[in-house]
Amino acid sequence: MTRILITGGAGFIGSHFIRYVLREHPDWSLVNLDKLTYAGNLKNLEDVEDDPRYRFVKGDIADRALLDRLLSEETIDAIVNFAAESHVDRSLLDASPFIETNVKGTQVLLEAVRKHPVERFLQISTDEVYGSLGKGGVFTEDSTLLPNSPYAASKAAADLLCRAYHKAYGVPVLITRSSNNYGPYQFPEKLIPLMIRNALLDKKLPVYGKGENVRDWLFVLDNCRAIDLVFERGRVGETYNIGGDTERRNIDVVRMILKGLHKPEDLIQFIPDPRGAAHDFRYALDCSRIKEELGWRPTTDFAQGLRETIDWYLAHQAWVEDVTSGAYQAYYEAFYGA
Ligand code: NAD
Ligand code: DAU
Repeated sequence: MTRILITGGAGFIGSHFIRYVLREHPDWSLVNLDKLTYAGNLKNLEDVEDDPRYRFVKGDIADRALLDRLLSEETIDAIVNFAAESHVDRSLLDASPFIETNVKGTQVLLEAVRKHPVERFLQISTDEVYGSLGKGGVFTEDSTLLPNSPYAASKAAADLLCRAYHKAYGVPVLITRSSNNYGPYQFPEKLIPLMIRNALLDKKLPVYGKGENVRDWLFVLDNCRAIDLVFERGRVGETYNIGGDTERRNIDVVRMILKGLHKPEDLIQFIPDPRGAAHDFRYALDCSRIKEELGWRPTTDFAQGLRETIDWYLAHQAWVEDVTSGAYQAYYEAFYGA
């Protein structure tokens, strides 16, 4: 029996990964350590909460004493660190929680692992650490790290700490850097779920600038499969890019959502870009390493994945209402209000 500590498992990708692992690896068990910030929601995991192979612990990855206690009490074989402040726009409003969780939290986890060694430590990172591309080119795992937002800088710092703890102390670190995930259970602050929610409420859809920025969309379950492969068979010390082979301009994604919901295009509202120079124009990844070494490739067609995502939000409007009551309204007002 392999026992894994998953951090941030109550969030979007982490909750899908927990479900994926419990289904695909009957001999693995999991401890989910999550602080339950605004983005963490135990409702994302209702279907697995009674599984005897699953345990939830509420707590902060930056809490050294808690990590020491947890790793002494539990026999943990490996760690997958999803826990993070994950939204670029929030990092532009206040970078502090990003430094606390993404930088300090990762360092506390790495220190805890020095004291209580594990077989593998997988850091979930992002293509945003590479910065921005123009119309051409792709990032490889060896591209220079040139982050442009406080979120991206905090993730790059965490990646560098992982590298240093591997070199200096032999911590068995692996890193995945994926492109933009989408799918069910994504918090409606990110482009796709925010646009679906606003459209359903007949509210304006705020598109930054002219909507010409390009993102590479990856269905969340394709990412879970990739993370699982890297976790099991990736080479310790290596980084693996995970992309969706699906580059789209934001405006085209927004139009697809409106069409999928039979809503009019005049709901679109182009707004002065609130990210300014921190708004990366384009991301694209060279994923030859994971494709050639581990045989992975994305299999979900974007139109099909987006349809599935829209249908999920249509069927789970109570979930959306629940996560957007209270503090969400204050955030929305602070970021989009003006
Ligand atoms: P999310 O915001 O949906 O979830 C983050 C989770 O971490 C939440 O459950 C939250 O409660 C928890 N958390 C936050 N601070 C914590 C702390 N100090 N201690 C313990 N738990 C804490 O994020 P997501 O979109 O699922 O992203 C997961 C990871 O994947 C992040 O590391 C993110 O940087 C990375 N990533 C995300 C994407 C994407 O498109 N969403 C793409 C590439 C990489
Ligand atoms: O690339 C991976 C990254 O993708 C992850 O590391 C981040 O955690 C995740 O949040 C995501 O970052 P982005 O900034 O690319 O995602 P977001 O959904 O916030 O924005 C996608 C694009 O849509 C971006 O160009 C900004 C634009 N946008 C976003 C919102 C929320 C809008 O035009 N209007 C909006 O209201």
